[in-house]
Amino acid sequence: MSEMLEGKVAVVTGAGHGIGRGHALELARHGAWVVVNDLGSSVTGEGSSKDADLTVELIAARGGIAIPDYGDVADEAVAEAMVERAIGEWGRLDILVNNAGIVRDGAIWNLTTAAWDAVMGVHVRGPWLTSRAAARHWRSLDKAGRDSRGRIINTTSGAGLVGNFGQTNYATAKAAVVGLTLTLALELNRLGVTVNAIGPAGATRITGTMPNAPTVVEPDEIPEDSFHPLDPAGSSPVVAWLASDEAQYVTGQVIRVIGDHIHLMRGWQEGASASNAGKRWDATKVGDVIASQIFGTQGRGLQTWSR
Ligand SMILES: NC(=O)c1ccc[n+]([C@@H]2O[C@H](COP(=O)([O-])OP(=O)(O)OC[C@H]3O[C@@H](n4cnc5c(N)ncnc54)[C@H](O)[C@@H]3O)[C@@H](O)[C@H]2O)c1
Repeated sequence: MSEMLEGKVAVVTGAGHGIGRGHALELARHGAWVVVNDLGSSVTGEGSSKDADLTVELIAARGGIAIPDYGDVADEAVAEAMVERAIGEWGRLDILVNNAGIVRDGAIWNLTTAAWDAVMGVHVRGPWLTSRAAARHWRSLDKAGRDSRGRIINTTSGAGLVGNFGQTNYATAKAAVVGLTLTLALELNRLGVTVNAIGPAGATRITGTMPNAPTVVEPDEIPEDSFHPLDPAGSSPVVAWLASDEAQYVTGQVIRVIGDHIHLMRGWQEGASASNAGKRWDATKVGDVIASQIFGTQGRGLQTWSR
């Protein structure tokens, strides 16, 4: 145990399994008291159970403090209640880790609207609801002249950052998480609340749905302090650090952690540009300008298509 997060209270969503379980264990390891939220659904979001209990027991067995919460992050009243639970139980909220996730994959022509709604609900509506509840709490502290510093750590994915075949719902949701992160970082900056997104990796139930997936491993099955390239808790030390006072200067960032590598992601930046000297563009002539000045020599390097 370290004292890096001593005295802090955290909510981690989807912490019954995989990456979230790793985050909850790591935050507790550094002294935070943790609300371990998990709906206990299947990897596609069906059903519910008390999966949060196992993580709470693991934290307690290691000398930490945690309580379970079995709520659905996509449910407005439930998401608000889980944030209020931390404040009601322990009188404060310092860290919100939005991690809960499901997948319902398929090429777009096979995807149902229900698959879209379910994935957007857990990955986008959920973090937005919990963040709003936390933001209202921190803003009320600020208005009362009290310390309003806090941390929100969201969870994006390579699918959202660069796209992935068969995941139009999941990739859209994970890209939305980045937009949520960047905008929350602006809105909450004055309160001293930092907002960042992590892009984790690990052999979890979610990756287990993919072809040729590695065997699912839970973070506690890997001996503490040993390195496993697919450890779901691989990004958890970075999450714990982002949650610490030391990381006050980091906000609005997207950081991927894959194996033992930390990658700072850089988003949309202006590329080549062309001007028409104050005149409206002509569709029959703009192609030459785009080919030569925007994409270089006749669009070299762009994706070509032939039947
Ligand atoms: N595994 C990877 O390589 C990887 C890569 C990039 C991003 N992610 C993201 O990491 C996060 C964690 O996923 P994981 O891989 O550990 O999968 P996982 O299935 O092991 O864990 C996800 C947890 O979220 C819970 N959950 C699902 N819906 C919920 C809801 N509505 N409310 C509360 N809890 C709910 C599940 O019960 C489960 O315990 C997800 O956001 C996922 O998209 C994972």
